[in-house]
Amino acid sequence: MKCVDDFRLRFGNRELVPIVIGGMGVDISTAELALEGARLGGIGHISDAMVPTVSDRRFRTQFVKEKVKLYKYNVANSDKSAVKFDLGQLAEATHNHVSRTMEAKRGEGMIFINCMEKLTMNGPRETLRVRLHAALDAGIDGITLSAGLHLGSFALMADHPRFRDAKLGIIVSSLRALQAFLKRNARLNRLPDFVVVEGPLAGGHLGFGMDWAAYDLRTIVSEIHDYLRAAKLDIALIPAGGIFTGSDAVSYLDSGAAAVQVATRFTVARECGLPDAVQQEYFKASEADIEVNMISPTGYPMRMLKSSPAIGAGIRPNCEAYGYLLDGSGNCAYITAYNREVAAHPGARKISVKDKTCLCTAMRNYDCWTCGHYTYRLKDTSRRLADGSYQLLSAEHVFRDYQFSTEQKIALP
Ligand SMILES: Cc1cc2nc3c(=O)[nH]c(=O)nc-3n(C[C@H](O)[C@H](O)[C@H](O)COP(=O)(O)O)c2cc1C
Repeated sequence: MKCVDDFRLRFGNRELVPIVIGGMGVDISTAELALEGARLGGIGHISDAMVPTVSDRRFRTQFVKEKVKLYKYNVANSDKSAVKFDLGQLAEATHNHVSRTMEAKRGEGMIFINCMEKLTMNGPRETLRVRLHAALDAGIDGITLSAGLHLGSFALMADHPRFRDAKLGIIVSSLRALQAFLKRNARLNRLPDFVVVEGPLAGGHLGFGMDWAAYDLRTIVSEIHDYLRAAKLDIALIPAGGIFTGSDAVSYLDSGAAAVQVATRFTVARECGLPDAVQQEYFKASEADIEVNMISPTGYPMRMLKSSPAIGAGIRPNCEAYGYLLDGSGNCAYITAYNREVAAHPGARKISVKDKTCLCTAMRNYDCWTCGHYTYRLKDTSRRLADGSYQLLSAEHVFRDYQFSTEQKIALP
């Protein structure tokens, strides 16, 4: 009976355990979690979502406070176009997060950073460029481009000395998206090293419409596998989304995948950034407690627990502090929805916005409980304690279970 450990992910002359812990913003996939992935010989992700906030938390910097101070005059203004990020500070925050993580790295694995295009930050091109360059400067092993088509992202890095040596890849949910990316970047003469193919059962934002249930990971993976083979493209294929057991992973590795990317099972690891009380909500969830909705201002569907405090909250937009989803003109779908509700309820002290959420604030406060489809199976991965709560796991336990288990078994702690 094969297990994941019978396979290796080959990157040049490096051989890794073919398990990638996916990026989970905002600091849900913490440096501690990513470092465990690398220590155990696989790949761990940190995320560059809201990285100034993450730096403030990790290193007691004051980036958010300074931004609020600068734009305090604008708090009551619904026009947020003036609220810009200081690019020097953004580079410093990214550098802090990445370099301190890389310094702490032990073992044979790698640390990648997940970089979302949809974090348009009221200056899409320049903020993305700064984040990519700062991560490369700070020695990140690789970058995973996510949440967007990233047609221009390789070009933004092409002048960086590490453009050809860092491992660079993209997350797609269709062959068409991969082909568009390859076509646009053909002139750079640099293929992605890997492509993560994310299916409809993943956590976070989905690369599908609300018809996500009509799609299936295995079909998309096999289309992309056939295409890569026919076109003789040497790009590591990494399926993601709903791979819950070692045996699930083996079935993909056996049919040509180079590795698998997994995340949901690590949401209940001690090293994960979610607060303990939220991790218990993940453990307790039943299938009926999970939904895919459109409350993210990005326009992508997102999967989450129905009990997420972010749903229906009506807080004042907080772009002077955060503002990560402001498009290039200072707009965000939440601001529009919020203003509509304020106008419809004059004088109300508290309003509720049902169709959109202030995702920056919600993610910062761990109030948007995004999760994968199989979150309702997490209770089967641990034990119940005398007080009725579930025992948190170590990232090592979850990693090793993926690596060595067979016959759809899940080892309890
Ligand atoms: C809590 C959570 C947060 C996530 N956040 C992000 C993110 O910020 N960026 C991203 O590209 N993917 C994100 N994902 C997707 C994962 O990186 C991963 O590809 C996917 O969830 C794998 O499927 P699984 O969770 O069923 O194992 C998130 C997933 C979870 C569970």
